[in-house]
Order: sequence, then structure tokens, then C-alpha cells
Amino acid sequence: MAEKSRIGVTGLAVMGANLARNMARRGFTVAVHNRTTAKTTQFIEDYGHEGAFTGSESLQDFVDALQTPRTIVVMVKAGKPVDAVIDELAPLLDEGDIIVDAGNSHFPDTDRRTAHCAELGLRFMGIGVSGGEEGALNGPSIMPGGDPAAYAEIADVLTAIAANVDGTPCCTHVGPGGAGHYVKMVHNGIEYADIQLIAEAYDLLTHVGGLSAPEIGTIFEQWNTGDLESFLIEITGIVLAKTDERTGGPLVDVITDQAEQKGTGRWTAIDALDLGVPLTGITEAVFARTLSALRDERQAASTTLAGPAPKPAADVDRLVDDVRQALYASKVVAYAQGFAQMRAASQANGWDLDLGAMARIWRGGCIIRAQFLNRITEAYESHPDLDNLLMVPYFTEAVGNAQDAWRRVVVTATEHGVAIPAFSSSLSYYDGYRRERGPANLIQGLRDYFGAHTYHRIDADGAFHTRWSQDGAEVRTD
Ligand code: 6PG
Repeated sequence: MAEKSRIGVTGLAVMGANLARNMARRGFTVAVHNRTTAKTTQFIEDYGHEGAFTGSESLQDFVDALQTPRTIVVMVKAGKPVDAVIDELAPLLDEGDIIVDAGNSHFPDTDRRTAHCAELGLRFMGIGVSGGEEGALNGPSIMPGGDPAAYAEIADVLTAIAANVDGTPCCTHVGPGGAGHYVKMVHNGIEYADIQLIAEAYDLLTHVGGLSAPEIGTIFEQWNTGDLESFLIEITGIVLAKTDERTGGPLVDVITDQAEQKGTGRWTAIDALDLGVPLTGITEAVFARTLSALRDERQAASTTLAGPAPKPAADVDRLVDDVRQALYASKVVAYAQGFAQMRAASQANGWDLDLGAMARIWRGGCIIRAQFLNRITEAYESHPDLDNLLMVPYFTEAVGNAQDAWRRVVVTATEHGVAIPAFSSSLSYYDGYRRERGPANLIQGLRDYFGAHTYHRIDADGAFHTRWSQDGAEVRTD
């Protein structure tokens, strides 16, 4: 009888295969399974030499190949396929076995599956895994949610395969139920905002600065040595520098300008609306992708709708530096909003999220890994109940120093007719958030006029209504 495996992975598409290889390379015995047997055979043929794998054709053999209590990582497409695998696995498992969903599942599904598995005597964990194919193989950022006792049983594997920054694994228990997938969802939302801001910077440097893709690539390479240092800035430099083999020009110039999405950014925005958290950067990034998808409509509009006459920037060097500062300030806002959302979700769901720890596990392995996440961890370490990241001195100063350039960028883009939804909405959020008194008093007055929705006064307690169309008198309504 062969030695039983420490952990099993079912679903051997590239993410599942790479996670399994990562585990085996770290010395864990791994049972692997795929719905299509040929894929399992191929996997063993290609990677069998990398570690102690057991390939199983049937789910029963797969389950039998595991040490008990069993730990099974499910890496299939989010949605119905996850439910299908659980339904097939459950009758073969014993009480206390752990099913780990490592895909990009929507957090309410994870909550539902956790409850369903608990009824069956099984333990379910939803873990966010970020880092793409390479991260899965060499060290992703891992956001595990679910029963802490179940986490304690698999923490050795997860922390060993995770990325590691300064001796700290990019993996920590996030919270119960769907908390891990929730944090992964917000990670992806921030990823959308980061990418949108980068795209807007590229658009400005192209259409206002008159720079070519490789020239902008060099600028991003330089930016990656300062405050903006991050994986996404680094790969932007590489993508912009790439020459197309067919045309000999920049590859990016021949890529269709329609952004696709799988849903995590949209879920983040929808949840922010449900929670009542202003999440403008990420939400604008989602809308920008949907606008980009209207390619036919945009092409028709481009010859119909008027814009300003093109004029080159007077001072390109200054534009480049202004855009860098605007990018940094807007990025800070996107993170401030995303963290405010996680705080609100934590309060609403009783998750007790450690926000500093979330920033810590995003420092390595994941798509939004960045130098400045250290500053976010420090911010929450010194102020655990922080309402908004903008309020800690480091970030207050960072956006304060950048604000003049940020405003110039928004003005310049508007004058040149370049759409900058993420830059401008971030600045508007900043200006809205720092106002002691905004214009919502008028909104309340209007609502009271047409719907008797009442308002509060700054100089008296209680709710009031003015009989606008009758005698004009104010009455207290509570
Ligand atoms: C990650 C990525 C990963 C994936 C996104 C892409 O953290 O490793 O976020 O999860 O690349 O799902 O999302 P869109 O297809 O929606 O852009």
C-alpha cells in the first residue's frame, strides 16, 4: 500500500497544477485528480519527477489516497463547478475532512457552502489565492477564510507554499466563512483600480505628451524605482516595451482596446453599494472596462461627437512628473477606499479582520504587491481603529504633496478630452472627504420638498419637515 498523501488537489488546469507542484516541491505528498483522466496522466508524466505525487483516475481512488482527516483543495472554475465537485466528493468523505476552495469564488457562495458542508459534518474553507500562474507555482499570496481550527490543520502547507517577504509568509487566517474570498475580491477590485490608473497615465502620456509606447515603458521603469514601486508598474514597463513580431511596432498598439473581466471587480463595487461605502476608484475602473467593451458604439461616436482640438503639451517633462504624482495620490485613494470597505464588511459580518495583516500578506506573491503596503500595515498597527488611511500622517502628507500635480493632471486631461475616470473620481473623493460641510444639505431640502422625507438641522435635535406647498412652516416629525 502506497504512502497516503498529506493533501489532495482536484482540478489540474494551470492554477491547480501549479499549486500541486508548489506543494510537492516543498516536500508535501500530494494526490492529484482531474475530471478528465488524460489530464492527470499528462500531469504525472510532465511533473511526476518534481515530487511525491499520487495520480488517481477516480474520485474514490483520490479520496482513498489521502491521510485522514483529509484535506482536498478544489481548483475549478468559480460558480456551479465548485458545487458539483462538493456534491461528488461529500458522499466519499468522512466527518471532519476539509474541503478547500482555492478559486475566485463569490463570498456569499462560500458562506453558503460552509453552512452546507457543516450540515454534512465536513469543514469547508474558502481561500483567496493571488499571483496568477507564476504565483501559484512559486509562491502566491494566500487569504484563507473559514474555521480557525481547520486552518490550523492546514497552515503548515499554506504558509510553506505562500510567498515570503522578509521571513514572513504572505498567508494568514483572514476570518470565518467567506472572509477569505471577500478579501481576495477586494484585492481584485484594487487590482482593477491600479490597472485603470496605469491605463489613464498611459493614455495621457500618449495623447497629451505625444510619447510612444516604448518611451512610456521607460518612464514606468523609472517610476518603479520610487514610491510607485510595484509588480503592476514593473510589468507595465515590460508590456509597453514589447515589439510586435508581425508589424515590428509596439505590441500594445495592435492589441484591441476592449477590456474583459471575470467579475471580481464588479462584485466589489456591488458590495460597496450594498454596504454604503464610497468606492469610487474601483467602481469607475469597472465602468471603464464596460465602456471599453462598447467598441462599435465608440467607433461611431468618434466621428460624430465633438472634442477639443488636439494640442501638444507645452512641457512634457512636467506632464510626466505630474502624472506620476497623480497616479500615486489616486492609488492611495483606491487603497483607502478598498480598506474602508473591508473595515465596513468586517463590522457588518463580525469578521474582526486585521487590516494591517491583510496589507502584510499582500506585500508578496499577489498582483497588487507593492512597496507602499508596508506603510498600510504600519498605519493599522499604530491605529487599529482607523476610519480612513488618508488620515494617517504618512498618507495625509503623500496626497497633500501630490495634490497640486493631481489637480493639474485632471485639468489637462479635461482640456485635451482624455477620459480619466479613476484620476478624477479619486480627486473628487479626496475633495469630498476633506470637506467639513458639503452640499448634501440641499439634497435633503429637495427630498423633503418632493417627498416629505424630512431633514435634520445643525442647530437642533430631531427630524423636521417644512410644509413647502402649504403654509411654509417647519414641523418636527419625530
Ligand atoms: C490574481 C488575479 C487573478 C486573475 C483575475 C483577473 O490575484 O491572481 O486577480 O485572480 O488574474 O481574476 O480578473 P479579471 O479577468 O476580472 O480581470
